[in-house]
Amino acid sequence: MSQQPDCLFVDVDTGIDDAFALLYACAEPHARLVGVSTVVGNVSLASATRNTRAVLALAGRGDVAVAPGAAVPLAPEQNDARAVHGATGLGYATLPEPAEPAHAVHAVDALIAAARGHAGRLILVATGPLTNVALAVMREPELPRLVKRFVIMGGAYCVHGNVTPSAEFNIWHDPEAARIVFRAFGGPGGAPVVAVGLDVTRQATIDGAGLGALAARLGATPRALALSQFLEDSARFYFERMERQTGRRFLIMHDPLAVAVALDPTLVETRRAAVDVETAGRLTPGATIVDWEGRWGRLANAEVAVSVDAERFRAKFIDAMVRLAADR
Ligand code: BDR
Ligand code: CA
Repeated sequence: MSQQPDCLFVDVDTGIDDAFALLYACAEPHARLVGVSTVVGNVSLASATRNTRAVLALAGRGDVAVAPGAAVPLAPEQNDARAVHGATGLGYATLPEPAEPAHAVHAVDALIAAARGHAGRLILVATGPLTNVALAVMREPELPRLVKRFVIMGGAYCVHGNVTPSAEFNIWHDPEAARIVFRAFGGPGGAPVVAVGLDVTRQATIDGAGLGALAARLGATPRALALSQFLEDSARFYFERMERQTGRRFLIMHDPLAVAVALDPTLVETRRAAVDVETAGRLTPGATIVDWEGRWGRLANAEVAVSVDAERFRAKFIDAMVRLAADR
């Protein structure tokens, strides 16, 4: 067995919760973040790339190459999620223009190179639509056998959707890509898709009191203050939307939970099953369909997260931010 530590590669469409997920990934002591790629989704590819570079700089990881990927989904273009994440994608937060340029390498090439270069120990996490991963697996069909683990934030398995009654945003934004990905992973010798969907992410919330407690633990170094300010300003936009919708101010940490599960799979309980994606339904495009009873007779290609230790996740998220603020 390899003595070398695990590596992490994250594909994002940075938005508010992707930003929180990147911060979490940067704070991980056991699996070094070796690359990040960006995809259209919450915001345009250009905004997602800019946001990602700015957030990595905030985390002190401006050295991580950010490779821009797909600017449009495989299927006809869908709406973005600026209503949720704000015009820039980062709510009310303003971050300095990042000094590091975007990587000249395309996301697909960066992802495949990372998987080959760290074969057997790369943990791949996708927190946006699956366009880049679909392109990567079409280009390198060995991808599921090269990675150690593959975790997505995406899907609504036993629960209702968040963009249509049946679909979750990341899958809905590019159902064709999601279908390619679900069909490619989980074959003989290949990693399954660890599916962290709305079933569990809806429990991974943080509210103003939680953020206040977090800020109090970060301290008052310049780094800690910048981090608290960012968390607060970006979350406030999301809080306001949730308040209009539900009467309560909170943020759902969809994407940080996916990163946390990638690094500590014991945070969720999963059930192995065959999953496919509806691409043609009149009412259900982007729905994730699970064959719980094996009626299709297909190989189970996914580990679907069905329950989560949300308290332990929240504690880990706070600890990660404390580590990040103390670093340097
Ligand atoms: C997902 O959709 C996006 O808006 C979030 O960033 C998250 O990845 C939740 O459905
Ligand atoms: Ca996202």
